[in-house]
This record gives sequence, structure tokens and C-alpha cells, in this order.
Amino acid sequence: MSTRPSVLLTRRIPSAIHERLSVGVDVDLYEGPSAMPADELLARIRDKDGLISVLTDKVTKDVLAAAERLKVVSNIAVGYENIDVAAAKARQVVVTNTPDVLTEATAELTWALLLSAARRVTEGDRLIRRGAWKGWALDFMLGTELRGKQLGIVGRGRIGRAVAAKAPAFGMRAVFAKHDMSFDELLVSSDVISIHTPMTPDTRHMIDRRALARMKRTAILVNTARGPIVDEEALAWALRERLIAAAALDVYEREPVVHEALIGLENVVLAPHLGSATRETRSAMIDLAVNNVLAVLAGRPALTPL
Ligand code: GLV
Repeated sequence: MSTRPSVLLTRRIPSAIHERLSVGVDVDLYEGPSAMPADELLARIRDKDGLISVLTDKVTKDVLAAAERLKVVSNIAVGYENIDVAAAKARQVVVTNTPDVLTEATAELTWALLLSAARRVTEGDRLIRRGAWKGWALDFMLGTELRGKQLGIVGRGRIGRAVAAKAPAFGMRAVFAKHDMSFDELLVSSDVISIHTPMTPDTRHMIDRRALARMKRTAILVNTARGPIVDEEALAWALRERLIAAAALDVYEREPVVHEALIGLENVVLAPHLGSATRETRSAMIDLAVNNVLAVLAGRPALTPL
């Protein structure tokens, strides 16, 4: 029987990084076409020393209890609400995430969505594709200019600050909730509101009917953080009733399901959870996740523990 540590890997990773991982450990790779089913995770974790997971893997108390040898859960994501961190800590399992390496990619996507919503880019794309463009007109598809406007940021972590750093390039003034003003004041006074806070019981449905009703009628809401922070039903209502002008979303309450009321609206940009999806960032995330597992299994401290 092998004395090498064994690691469960729930998604395929680039071959060069996989090979580097396999030098030190036995790798059990889940090769299914989509997310690893929960019962399979529960069965295959039993004899493992490490787990490399993604945000669709639910690392519950039961999964952790099934894995008596487990020493490390390395999530290829900065968010970690898919892991019962308290249960892991109680079992002395180290949990790691991938901060820093995805900050710029996520900030760039935030600006892509923000600009797209403000200038109706995806709406125009749909119009052209259905053959409905009649030609240039003075009052055709007018959007909102960003210069001189206030960008209200909820969450002053790495990504929120990276989004704010790009605001001067567009002539926007960035303000942070809880630092520059209260959340309520930010809702009332911002032209764009961008969410960059982690998903916790406190932030669930932070953007609800009440919050949406307080925003300017010209406001644009952007969410590249986590879906359940925004009440999708309430958002669809606010967009339909024109209580706010537009929204741009990268994350959803029940991914990959998107609320059908949102699908039918023109004034919302819908991206399929692409925040960190650049070639550069994804390989840096995977590299970091592998380094975290190898460090812990070699008895060294993790690089980015929670
Ligand atoms: C992606 O959503 C992440 O948390 O890294």
C-alpha cells in the first residue's frame, strides 16, 4: 500500500500543474462532465489526505466527518461559502482559498459589466442579431455617461479596492459603504452600486426590495460577488418597474439557473460567473491551490489559509 498522501481533485486542471501535483501525491481525479455529485464526493473523500475543490463542491460537515485522514481542503476560489469552515477547524483540517491572484481579473470584469450596462452594449448586440437595427438616430439607445458620477462600493476588500482604483480613469468618484458613508446613504446617493462583499448570513439579500427602492431611479447595480446577496425576485421587480435603470450580474442565487423574470428584461446584463475567468488568473488560482495542498501535506504552513 502506498504511503504517499492521496488527494481528491474534483476538476481537471492543466496537465503541467497536474504533473507537478502528482510528483508528491497520488491524485484521484473526478473526470465527470460537470460538477462532482455530492454522493460521489462523500464516497471518494474517505481515504484522502487532501481535497482540491471548486465552488460547486459542497464540503459539508458530513463530508468532513467521512474523511478521517483529511488534513487540507484547498478551494480554487477566493469565496469559500461552499465549505463548512467551522466544522473543518473543529477537525483541525486546514482550509485555504485563492486570494490576490484573481483580484484584477474580477475588477476588470466588474468594469466590463458596468460599462456594458451603462452603454446598453448587450442590449444593442441582441437588437442587431434579431435584425431590428433601423440605423443611426440622434435619440437611439441613449445610455448613461459615467464621468462625474458616484460609484458606491459595498465591501472594502481587495476586489472592492481594485474596482475603486480604476474609477478615476472614467472620471468617477468611488465611495465605500461603512467607511465614507453608511450603507443607506450610499444607496441613496450613488449612480452606480457595485457589490464586493463575501457571502455570509449577514449579507444574504442585503439588496432587497427596500434597498432597491432607496436607490436613484437612474442607478445601475452591479454584482460580481455572490448571487444570494441580491434578492433576484426583488431586482426583477425594480428593473421592470424602472425603480432603477439597469443591472449587470455575474452571479446568481441558484447557479446555473437564472431567475426567468431577469431573462426577459432588456435592462440587465447577464454574465455566466466569469469574474476570475481569464487564462492568466485561472492558472494562477490552480497553481496556488496546488501549492497550498502540497505545503500542508509536507508539514509546512499553507500559503493562504483562512
Ligand atoms: C469565484 O467566484 C471565487 O470566489 O473565486
